[in-house]
Amino acid sequence: MALNIVIMAAGKGTRMKSARPKVLHRLGGSSLLQHVLNTCVTLHAARTVVITGHGADEVEASARGVGLSFVRQVPQLGTGHAIQQAVPALDERAATTLILNGDVPLIRAATASALAQACGGEQLALLTVELPDASGYGRILRDAAGAVRGIVEHKDASAAQRQIREIYTGMMAAPTAALKRWVTALKNDNAQREYYLTDIVAMAVAEGVPVVATQPDNDTEVLGVNSPVQLADLERRLQRSIADTLMEAGVRLADPARLDVRGELRCGSEVEIDVNCVFEGQVVLGDGVSIGANCVIRDAQIAAGALIQPFCHIEGAKVGPQAIVGPFARLRPGAELGEEVHIGNFVEVKNATLAAGAKANHLAYLGDATVGERVNYGAGSITANYDGANKHRTVIGADVHIGSNCVLVAPVSIGDGATVGGGSTVSQDVPAGKLVVARARQAVIEGWQRPRKTKKG
Ligand code: UD1
Ligand code: MG
Repeated sequence: MALNIVIMAAGKGTRMKSARPKVLHRLGGSSLLQHVLNTCVTLHAARTVVITGHGADEVEASARGVGLSFVRQVPQLGTGHAIQQAVPALDERAATTLILNGDVPLIRAATASALAQACGGEQLALLTVELPDASGYGRILRDAAGAVRGIVEHKDASAAQRQIREIYTGMMAAPTAALKRWVTALKNDNAQREYYLTDIVAMAVAEGVPVVATQPDNDTEVLGVNSPVQLADLERRLQRSIADTLMEAGVRLADPARLDVRGELRCGSEVEIDVNCVFEGQVVLGDGVSIGANCVIRDAQIAAGALIQPFCHIEGAKVGPQAIVGPFARLRPGAELGEEVHIGNFVEVKNATLAAGAKANHLAYLGDATVGERVNYGAGSITANYDGANKHRTVIGADVHIGSNCVLVAPVSIGDGATVGGGSTVSQDVPAGKLVVARARQAVIEGWQRPRKTKKG
């Protein structure tokens, strides 16, 4: 079925009390609008038109989708006025036009698709729900036989109409040609002096076009974001559903209420995640991976059997099988740890590869380095990779032992099996298999005495 989609996103969102346009506030790491656009991609519409107004430049620059176009609505004279701006951009050959809201982010593709099917290019289909407290919403008016006759906005409703619990969610699907005709005929003679899109329901009834109502599977799908409280509530609902999906696939979460996935988290079997972990971007955890409490992990791949201990920050890194990282370790972009590598507390690794079995267990920095197998990198040692203008590489061969508190001044390479004495500042290449010591020799000064306090007078 050929489809147009219109997404209303011109509103200011006054109750967010924020300079940021409402639809650009974030939920699960993506903007509200982007959630809707991601859902739209799966619906394969001929055209997807986003109506922008407040912060239009910013909103348009951030939106990603297939076949997207934008129309601007300035000033904003109501939802009917918004659709008036959009109709010239619709594909007339697509018989059904689906209307969604940029601030209702969790609408499911199946629900939107069912709504479009219910329209089928011939009927006006409304997405409605029954709410215990319907205050503020447009109410669905039905006749004695139960047929939908119209929608009345809360501000225009009589006391009796305000008792109605069935509300319009703000989403509908309409026959494209009829929609154009109806929105052109809208008037603003109502309590808010706005052009109400909802007035087209009575027009359809008057023309004898059937009006049908469909319902979503759950209320979360139709919840809009108008305030920080609603945004936080939706975030928790989204996170709980992500947690449930992970657990259904066998992931063991210490507490599903203390997990945040802001992107995509893919897990193998036998994965365990302790409390308060945040996953951002694309994260992959292999079979048997265990993540300790309070880790933040972004765009990373953690291979099978790796153990990430509590309080680690990992970004743009690859961790090899059976590696042990943390507690309190930082892996920055380009860190690649081989099999059974150990990175301990207060160790920072950036743009560096560590081959199988290498260890840096305490208080160290490895930047722009290539580290061989089984290297032992001592506490307090660093690669001085930056000369103030350029970055240089440090190459450490297999089985090298770097003592504590060494400075490896790049570019420099340490041959296989070499040992660097603690406290050395190494600025020249070290041959394989040798001991190098690059520090002042220890001396005992004979006959030296501590100075004494001189007495005055
Ligand atoms: C609307 C419906 C109401 C429904 C409710 C569901 C109308 C007249 N009323 O009311 O029946 O129960 O949504 O939440 O449609 N927008 C524009 N341009 C405008 C006005 C609004 O793009 O000129 C956008 C807003 O950014 C928002 C959406 O349309 O995304 C809905 O607008 P809003 O002002 O929230 O409508 P409500 O009064 O809540
Ligand atoms: Mg609203």
